[in-house]
Amino acid sequence: MRTSLYQTILFVLTLVACGEALPRTSLVKNPDHASAEVREACAVTELKCTRCHTVGRIISFEATSRAQWEPIVTRMRQMTSSGISKSDAEVVLQCLGEPRGAPTSVQSRAASARADSRVP
Ligand code: HEC
Repeated sequence: MRTSLYQTILFVLTLVACGEALPRTSLVKNPDHASAEVREACAVTELKCTRCHTVGRIISFEATSRAQWEPIVTRMRQMTSSGISKSDAEVVLQCLGEPRGAPTSVQSRAASARADSRVP
């Protein structure tokens, strides 16, 4: 039937158009210039870290450096049946510890400097 074909096309176009407005669901911070290694690390992270909560919990968390992520990842890994091994945690940190792109890099350097200064 003709209408249903048009409806399908319209539906698909709406999905595509709305895609931009949806919240970010990927953990890759610099999609335009992320290395294949970081992309792969983030794919593993998205898989390993969404067993108990959504990826939104990670995206909205205010940690910008590896030093800030490390204690969180350790806490998550040590939860009962997290399914996250030590080597998984290393891959996760490769993704989450990646500095952000240009606009926030100064901010994240400042944040990691603060995190470092807390280390005794
Ligand atoms: C075994 C289940 C489980 C897995 C797997 C898990 N989490 Fe969580 N996560 C939780 C629970 C439960 C909470 C809320 C309680 C808490 O903060 O300890 C939480 C909270 C968080 C928070 C918010 C912490 C805060 O202080 O507000 C972040 C960020 C987070 N998780 C990141 C991760 C990352 C990154 C991974 C993968 C390395 C991960 N989680 C894997 C269970 C899990």
